[in-house]
Formats: sequence, structure tokens, C-alpha cells
Amino acid sequence: MIEVKDLCFSRSDGDTQHKILNQLNLSVPAAQHLALLGDSGSGKTTLLHILAGLLPIDSGSVNVNNQELSLLNDKKLAFYRRRIGLIFQHYQLLDCLTVKQNILFQHKLNYANQPAIEFDHLVETLGLYNKLDALPHQLSGGEQQRVGIARALLNKPQIIFADEPTGNLDQKRSHQVVELLTGLCREREINLVMVTHSQQLTDYFDQVKILRDGRFE
Ligand SMILES: Nc1ncnc2c1ncn2[C@@H]1O[C@H](COP(=O)(O)OP(=O)(O)O)[C@@H](O)[C@H]1O
Ligand SMILES: [Mg+2]
Repeated sequence: MIEVKDLCFSRSDGDTQHKILNQLNLSVPAAQHLALLGDSGSGKTTLLHILAGLLPIDSGSVNVNNQELSLLNDKKLAFYRRRIGLIFQHYQLLDCLTVKQNILFQHKLNYANQPAIEFDHLVETLGLYNKLDALPHQLSGGEQQRVGIARALLNKPQIIFADEPTGNLDQKRSHQVVELLTGLCREREINLVMVTHSQQLTDYFDQVKILRDGRFE
């Protein structure tokens, strides 16, 4: 569940302050999926980073799963960040690790030696079974993004933020990836916020918001 009220965020560029988000309001109920659109530079990535606890805000309130992010101490904020799922346009896989090692990486950090119970199911659903020993550069873009999705989901997040995850994929693969991502999040009742440029992908989402001039249209 995400509740944003009167969020203001600016960046300073030398002496000038640029307002990026201006009195922004947003409400995403538990387990719902939001598609976030807007022109390049409208602040979509900035908003995702704020929701992920990576950027402090100037004023307003950002509440995720009943936690007011600005009130969390460093330790609690670090814990919050570790337990969310992040999916990136450029996949951010570790080049020298195999597909299997990449998928397990975050789970190992967060759950030490607990077994990764969902591993087989995710790998099967995402069609990665015969790619487990491959290195990222041996995969297509769509396959690399499916590794990114498996890694995020294996970490058992309550919430996933995806920043243009299909930005490097053709139309057919974009639909495949978004269908898989939204389907897997629905099964697990995970909140999903996905930035996209493609109006055609918004059919998979419960809510669509367009950022313009620091607010939603
Ligand atoms: N690290 C940064 N330092 C200064 N300005 C930034 C930084 N990141 C983004 N910006 C500026 O903030 C605005 C919003 O950027 P961003 O959130 O990346 O937009 P979007 O993801 O919608 O393309 C843009 O004007 C951009 O130039
Ligand atoms: Mg961006």
C-alpha cells in the first residue's frame, strides 16, 4: 500500500532550485498495480527512487505499508530497501555470474542459507530453465529481463518498482515480459509500480498515472 501526500522534491543546480515533484498525491491500495507514464525528464525515476527510500524529500508524506519513510532511522531504512524489488531498464545483472547465481544473489544476501523455495517455479514460469549456466551476455534482452524479474521475486518483496523494464525490448517481448511480471505479482499479491513509455502496456495495470509538471494530470 502506497500513500503519498503533498510530496515536494527539488534538486539544486548551483544556486537554482528546480522543483521536480510539486505537491504530488498518490494512492495505490495493497496488491494493486500502477503504470506510471510521463515525458522524459518529468520525474518518473525520481519518484520511484523516493518510494524506494533512496532519496529524502523536501516536504510531504510518503507512506509505504504503514511506514512513514522519512521517520525511519538508518537501520530501518536499510532493511526497508533490502526487502523491496527493483527491476531496471538495463537489467543490472552481474556480468561474471551465471543466470542461476544472478537469480540467487539477493536472496543469499537477505536470507543467508535458507532454501530458495520458489526458485524452480520462477525459473520454469519465466522460461529460464535451460539457461541457468549461461552468462548474461549470452542471453537476449528479453531473457536478461526475465532474470531480473526472477531475482526481484525470489527476494519475496511486498512491493516492486520497475523503471522502464521493457525500454530495450521489442513490442512482442515487452508484452511477454509485462504479462509475466504482472501475473507473478498478482499471484503473490505484490504491489507493483512500473514506469513505461508505452500506452499499449497499460492494459495490464489497475491504475495509470501520467506525470506532468511535477504532478499527475
Ligand atoms: N542526479 C541528478 N542530479 C540533478 N538532476 C537530476 C538528477 N537526476 C535527475 N535529474 C533531473 O530531474 C528531472 C527528473 O528526472 P527523472 O526523474 O530522471 O525523469 P524521468 O525518469 O521521468 O525521465 C530531470 O530534469 C533531470 O534532469
Ligand atoms: Mg527515468
